[in-house]
Amino acid sequence: MIIQKTENSKLPTFDPNNFSFGDTFIDHMIICEYENGKWGDVKLVPYGPLPFTPAMMGVNYGQACFEGMKAYKDENDDIFLFRPEKNFERINKSAKRLAIPEIPREAFIDGLNALVDIDREWIPKGEGMSLYIRPVVFATEEVLKARVSNKYMFAIVATPAKSYYSAPVSVKISDYYSRSANGGVGFAKAAGNYAASFYPTQLAIDEGYDQVIWTDDATHEYFEESGTMNVFVRINDTIYTPKTSEKILDGVTRDSFLQLAERNGIDVVVGDVKVADVVAALKDGSLKEAWGVGTAVVTTRFEAIGYGDEKFALPTLADEDSFAFILKKALVDIQTNHAEDPFGWRVKVDKKY
Ligand SMILES: Cc1ncc(COP(=O)(O)O)c(C=O)c1O
Repeated sequence: MIIQKTENSKLPTFDPNNFSFGDTFIDHMIICEYENGKWGDVKLVPYGPLPFTPAMMGVNYGQACFEGMKAYKDENDDIFLFRPEKNFERINKSAKRLAIPEIPREAFIDGLNALVDIDREWIPKGEGMSLYIRPVVFATEEVLKARVSNKYMFAIVATPAKSYYSAPVSVKISDYYSRSANGGVGFAKAAGNYAASFYPTQLAIDEGYDQVIWTDDATHEYFEESGTMNVFVRINDTIYTPKTSEKILDGVTRDSFLQLAERNGIDVVVGDVKVADVVAALKDGSLKEAWGVGTAVVTTRFEAIGYGDEKFALPTLADEDSFAFILKKALVDIQTNHAEDPFGWRVKVDKKY
């Protein structure tokens, strides 16, 4: 790996008690370019803009995908990644579907470790604090032809993140728009999936909701995901989540919740989550809670679910009665080194550089 450290660290201007998530970037980034049929050197360089032409294929044809993951700092200033191999596997599943060449381990895993190690001072510590890491790959060939690109850039950038708290949201069950389809790219973290979700989400926002519950494109009778999260509903004391498929992103948080639920003796059913069953449970009061899960905030609870012209309020459970809360706490405690990690999910970032 080629290491080129900045001579202009922005760290002295970074206030861990007052920063904005998503647009504050750490001092460095990883870049690695693909051309002539192979990936070049992995480089750690100062964070900053890259040369760009509007004729770049990634911009025109959307051949791009990414990952989202976090690093956590404990009281002893030890740094941990959470299940990074899952993200490495997933970016390559996404890349394959988008005809992007496989990202090498040296760029993703070694790059990730070097970046987090070198910029470890940037990781805020304390409850809810972390570093959000964004590996991304996009087509860079300068040609206006709708075909597979011959050039790519892989990069990793990162932004400090705070607070797991996210206010409960109200969600609208989609009965028209879809985020994915059979044979499509729903399982991939393809940039275009997000672009396509913005308009329907905006329509839901205009109706007074925060997010869309995506349903299957063929019948709109089955839950798939919620916004950019996997979805769980609890009816009586059983939790239900859709089975992952080529239409659903295989979330790391979802998978972790399932394993933690089993360990905590919570009944889980992974399979079809029927809109009609959820609406019936909302009406008869057996729907106790529902929530989305994802890396960014771990859990977002739903306060209301809308379907057609109806909007159903969900009960407000005390934290100790909420499976969403219990599972989130169990997960966060493992991520932040506040609990034993029987699953081997935590990966310490050694001090190497
Ligand atoms: C569409 C979508 N579904 C689900 C998730 C949750 O995945 P993970 O738990 O791996 O963050 C994400 C990403 O955060 C997503 O973008």
